[in-house]
Formats: sequence, structure tokens, C-alpha cells
Amino acid sequence: MYGTRSLGASFGAEVLDFQLSGTPSEADIAAIRGLWAEHKLLLFRNQSFDEATLVGFSRQFGDLEIHVREEYLSPEHPEILYVSNIERDGRRIGILSDSEVGWHYDQIYLPKPAVGSLLMADTLPPEGGNTEFADMCAAWEALPEATREKLDGCLANQSYEAFNQAYSVPTNNKQKARSPDIHQPIARTHPVTGRKALYLCPGMTTEIVGWDADESAEMLAFLFDWTTKPEFVYSHAWQPGDALMWDNACTMHRRDPFDPAHARLMKRTTILPPAELAVPF
Ligand code: OGA
Ligand code: MN
Repeated sequence: MYGTRSLGASFGAEVLDFQLSGTPSEADIAAIRGLWAEHKLLLFRNQSFDEATLVGFSRQFGDLEIHVREEYLSPEHPEILYVSNIERDGRRIGILSDSEVGWHYDQIYLPKPAVGSLLMADTLPPEGGNTEFADMCAAWEALPEATREKLDGCLANQSYEAFNQAYSVPTNNKQKARSPDIHQPIARTHPVTGRKALYLCPGMTTEIVGWDADESAEMLAFLFDWTTKPEFVYSHAWQPGDALMWDNACTMHRRDPFDPAHARLMKRTTILPPAELAVPF
């Protein structure tokens, strides 16, 4: 229904001639849903949008998660998380500032992990701040069979705290209580496509549950290296008007640093799995 153009990597597609603000029909949404599952990462270029459009469009794909970092939510639309280095009234309005952000899945620490995120460029620096994505389905499928057999059925510990210590500012006690460490399957069956993907990330995965500490560390180091090989990765150089929608059940992402002298503001929604698909494993 909509034309697409490859992003030049083994996954990801630009959707042509589509405006998020254009009140898409049910058929339009079904078409986008199909493309999203097929390509794992969708780029919409030249968008003109406001926050209500972002929330309204995102909601067509599922309930939206209200992020635990309430200090970085949009004052008007709490479904939107600001990712920014901008300060207003002596306080940063967004999460993650200007430094490098390591590989992570959004909210891997939720009991029912988010299936997608939509990120819109509001204000961009002249250079830097590329966002990279890794195809964790392809990474899983390319593993030697013996490694897959060893990992299948194992759980890994996911820690938002570990991510915050490395890349963000600490959470307060109430936020800590809402985002405790959690065990998730290391090979996760995608709730929509039924394909397996590696569900781990350097930013938040601390150990394989029940494994000897050295063996766990060695396997995780191998997997972090493996999943970020160039053949699994796409790097996005943002342009004004860009919106990216990613499959957060089978891709992880990271961000390059950028010059702190320049402002960057991105606006994100996070899509939860539909109730009937909420048993993800
Ligand atoms: C996010 C995120 C990276 C970026 O919004 O989840 O990781 O490019 N953003 O700002
Ligand atoms: Mn993220």
C-alpha cells in the first residue's frame, strides 16, 4: 500500500509519502503495522507534527507506557518522554543529555516488555547524535547452533539501575521501586512475529541467571560483541522532520555523543504489547 525504500542495511525501511498527522485509516495503520513487523525499523521523513499527533498516532499501535522518569515527561502529554540536553529554569528537560548512550532495549526491565518506540526529531545539533540499531533476530539466527541450544530457555538479569549508573542520573527511591531488576528470557519469542530474538543488551543485562559468574561474563561479552557486528547494525543520521519507529522486541539501540554547545530535543512514545499478546514468551 505504501512504497518503501531500504535504509541501506539488512533491515529498516523508509516509508514513502506518509504523514503521521494525516488521520490514517484503519487500513493505513494495518499496512504500517505489517511494514513495522517486516522491517523492524521504519523511517518517516519530512513530518510536520505536534505532540498530540505523536500520541494519537502511537496509540493506534497499543497502549502507551508512562515512563518512570516523570521529571522528563512532556508537561502536556505524559505519554511523551523528552530525550534532551536542554535546560530550562535551571533543570534539564530531558533524559540522556549529550554523551554517548550505550546499547539498550527501551524498558527491558518491564514485566511485559514494550513492543515499540517512536522517536521524533524536534531539535537537532548540526552533527553527531546518530542513533544506531541492531537486528537481534538476525543476530540470534546467525549464532552457531550449539550456542543457541545452550542459551535457549536461559534467563538473564536486566537492571535499569546498571544503565543509569553508566549513562544517566540515578533514579529516586520511588522510581527504583517501580523499576527493580527482573529476569527475562535471553532468547525471546517475538509477541507478534513469533520469531526469536536475543533479548539482552550491554547497557542493562548483568548476568545469565544460575550460570557460574565467569562463564556468564564470558558469554555476555561474546554476545555483546556478536550482536553489534556491522552486518547487524544500522546507523541513523537524523534530518529535521524525521520520525523513527522501531520494534523494541527485536532491536536494541545506542546513540553517539554530540557537542554539548548545541541543543538536541527528541520526543518519544513507548508502545506496550496488546493485551491478547501480552504473554510474550
Ligand atoms: C530513546 C533513545 C536515543 C537518541 O529515545 O529511547 O535511546 O537518539 N534515544 O536520543
Ligand atoms: Mn532508548
